[in-house]
Amino acid sequence: MTRRPKMHLVAYLRTNSTASYAGGWRHPAAPLDDVWSPERYQSLARLLEGACFDAGFFADNLALPDLYKGRIDDYIGRGGQASLLDPMIALPIMAAATSRLGLGATLSTTFNEPYHLARSLGSLDLVSGGRAAWNIVSSTMDCEARNFGLPAMPDKETRYDRADDVLEACTKLWDSWDAEALVMDRDRGVFADTSRIRAVNHDGPFVRVRGPLGIPRSPQGHPVLMQAGSSPRGRVFAARWAELVFASPATKEAGAEFRADLHERMGAHGRAPGDCKVLVSMSLVLGETEAIARDRAAYLDSLVDPELVLASNSSLMGIDLDRKLREEAAAPELVGSQGVQGTLDRMSQTVAASGRSFAETVRRPRDLFTGTAAGIADVMEDWLVSGACDGFVLPPTVYPGTFEDVARLLVPELQKRGLFRRGYAGRTLRENLRDPG
Ligand SMILES: Cc1cc2nc3c(=O)[nH]c(=O)nc-3n(C[C@H](O)[C@H](O)[C@H](O)COP(=O)(O)O)c2cc1C
Repeated sequence: MTRRPKMHLVAYLRTNSTASYAGGWRHPAAPLDDVWSPERYQSLARLLEGACFDAGFFADNLALPDLYKGRIDDYIGRGGQASLLDPMIALPIMAAATSRLGLGATLSTTFNEPYHLARSLGSLDLVSGGRAAWNIVSSTMDCEARNFGLPAMPDKETRYDRADDVLEACTKLWDSWDAEALVMDRDRGVFADTSRIRAVNHDGPFVRVRGPLGIPRSPQGHPVLMQAGSSPRGRVFAARWAELVFASPATKEAGAEFRADLHERMGAHGRAPGDCKVLVSMSLVLGETEAIARDRAAYLDSLVDPELVLASNSSLMGIDLDRKLREEAAAPELVGSQGVQGTLDRMSQTVAASGRSFAETVRRPRDLFTGTAAGIADVMEDWLVSGACDGFVLPPTVYPGTFEDVARLLVPELQKRGLFRRGYAGRTLRENLRDPG
């Protein structure tokens, strides 16, 4: 008998009260002033672990986006998603409140040295008992480059080439300690067996590091590697390194095409399809009845600020949409050389599938999946069994209400259908990704 596939669920998080649905932060049920409170992160972590999520990960950027109209006003002023706290501070707090939930940090290969990356992420893996994940980004925005002494972002090829080099160096650093290197034998007076700790002497085209790493080997050996690029070069990178990939296709067919393409590329690296899980993002509004869900979605819709959506989409697409819409109102080309390819693709797919104009599409937030748990589970099951994904990344449309609704309504429905774990099979995040329970 063939086993039904089980899905993976990951929560998309920000250290901010601005939920990922534009304007969602204005919902009266969303707290605004607890962003710096450890209790916010602990209760979130307990909620996600109680619902058996594989992991929560914090998206992050290294600047206040200013592409739209060349200023920060519409993005930050209207409640765009920015990190109001370094996520590396929040993650250990979440680790302390949980024992199985995976914990993901977004860190840039363009603006960090491998030694810093390997040490921070290795430390998170150590204190969490093997639950760390790294969302590997090469960063996309010129405003980020300007915070690191560059006038603009290096081009995408160069950024991914550096990312490859950084990953090679990090991997060597994580492997520079054997698991048995720390002896801590009081009687013999031997703290560490230095024959099991090696220099790495990485001398790459972008980064050089001698090693060894200053901290011991972590429970997973190295954190789970996540990635979200979907340009051709991004896919080449993912096929080599990623164990978890986030995609944002507008349709099931586009998701299936992306996943099949990634599997094929992984084959070239001798990797099996199961070595990398593809998760697609889905913005949900759940209700106890269809009518309740529709009312909630309509209320959320009333909070949407089109200027904020334009500012957000500008930074995601790498295009100042204010200029673009004025200059090319008729038929703008979707070329953003530096933007997020997945967003550019999703916009084209949405324009084609919905018949809406480009101008209308970029003013609207992503389409919501609205309905009862049974209705939403039907859609998820369809995507899963059609091979469009191995699971879902769920951003909150209202924080933390979306996650409470998922835990209370959706997860039990998915469990009843045998589509989602009832408990964690493994101890580490990697074990739980390999065995969904
Ligand atoms: C779901 C999703 C989440 C992402 N999160 C971040 C993030 O937190 N920080 C960041 O700098 N880039 C983020 N990105 C951007 C990607 O990491 C990548 O840099 C970008 O997609 C450009 O590469 P590409 O053209 O190959 O897609 C995200 C992309 C997607 C689709």
